[in-house]
Amino acid sequence: MSSDVLSVLSYHVAPGGRLSGRHRVPGDKSISHRAVMFAALAEGTSTITGFLDGEDCLCTLRAFEAMGATVARLDRTTLRITGVGIDGLKDPGTVLDVGNSGTSMRLMCGLLAAQRFGSTLTGDASLRRRPMKRVTEPLAQMGATIHTQAGGRAPLQIEPAARPLNAIRYHSPVASAQVKSSILLAGLYAEGLTEVHEPEASRDHTERMLSAFGVRVEAREGYAAVQGGQRLRAIDIEVPSDISSAAFLMVGAAIAPGSDVTLEAVGLNPTRTGVLHILKAMGARISIANERTIGGEPVGDVRILGSALHGIDIDPRWVASAIDEFPALFIAAACARGETRLSGAAELRVKESDRISAMCNGLRALGIDAVALADGARISGGRLRGGSVESLGDHRIAMSFAVAALRAEQPITIRDCDNVATSFPGFSTLMQAAGLRLRVSTRHP
Ligand code: S3P
Repeated sequence: MSSDVLSVLSYHVAPGGRLSGRHRVPGDKSISHRAVMFAALAEGTSTITGFLDGEDCLCTLRAFEAMGATVARLDRTTLRITGVGIDGLKDPGTVLDVGNSGTSMRLMCGLLAAQRFGSTLTGDASLRRRPMKRVTEPLAQMGATIHTQAGGRAPLQIEPAARPLNAIRYHSPVASAQVKSSILLAGLYAEGLTEVHEPEASRDHTERMLSAFGVRVEAREGYAAVQGGQRLRAIDIEVPSDISSAAFLMVGAAIAPGSDVTLEAVGLNPTRTGVLHILKAMGARISIANERTIGGEPVGDVRILGSALHGIDIDPRWVASAIDEFPALFIAAACARGETRLSGAAELRVKESDRISAMCNGLRALGIDAVALADGARISGGRLRGGSVESLGDHRIAMSFAVAALRAEQPITIRDCDNVATSFPGFSTLMQAAGLRLRVSTRHP
């Protein structure tokens, strides 16, 4: 069974306006996935607050419920999960459909590759197009047997494992937290030390949260390792607001003169803050207050004022830590004076959509000179005329073009916006409250 749905939502955004007020965007998607997975694997009962009740994380939640975790939803964003222990997962007895969620599929693949029962992981059409060899190959080196479709795509059929798995020292060709985490999770079931080296440091939420659950993890920039045979102990976790969701308001505020927005409790993990460095380098006025740590992660309140942006050559050092924010940053580039150049970001081509093509095509449809490169883009700031764009079912493409309307001369219509709910439930309501002139229409199929 697959989770493909017919898309019915479109956004219609009237041009102009500015953003203002104090807002709190929903919980971090990466951290919410991990909180559910690790609580399900732990011994005891964990309470998660600030959970992102978006479709992606709900897929993870349903999968772990099917494998035996007990979940009590105290309210939309508060969960109490009683784990089954590292050896307690049970055969879900059904195909695990994780919808649009690459994080669910790749992390769960590592975990399932080590179980004594077989399983099948599938997802929606977008996820079934995305590369999975990046996890199935290293997992095969650890002794797992995983059957893929042509080209290493999902559905993935995972055979029961002979334990223990082999510990490996893996040099990943890509900086990917999903690959690193998948291998580390399998490594919990391996004999010896499983090590992952990366070309650049990817987000380190797995390392931080596993440590909080009592697992000894060796971690430094571009390296993480875990010894097999360790157990997880239940904890309480507070999930910070997602900087990737905050990015749409940051860019919206930065491009719209007169804006003044404060975003509360935004996750500021240094492996995720590339968007702040890039916007500041473009001239954005951003300040951070009330810095503190919640759930082992740094957070702060981020204030952004309307700013005169200028184009830059994006420093390749910031690419990995801003990887999900480039769709929004392309809008900032379109509203900046001069040219912005991005390279070293080929990963954007294998996200929920090919984000380089999706953004460059959409920007050109709106009158901006945007040139797609194999691993990035060249965008000349200019007049955003308005018009109609395709999101290709990609949540971040839809939200990026919605905020672009703040600087457009005519309305912008974005089709195929249902998937915004994967990462940012309540986007339209929050953006309307902040000042975006957004209307949602529903086509009845
Ligand atoms: C994620 C890692 C990133 C990111 C994705 C979430 C995670 O993917 O793009 O949205 O939670 O580990 P890659 O691991 O493919 O870089």
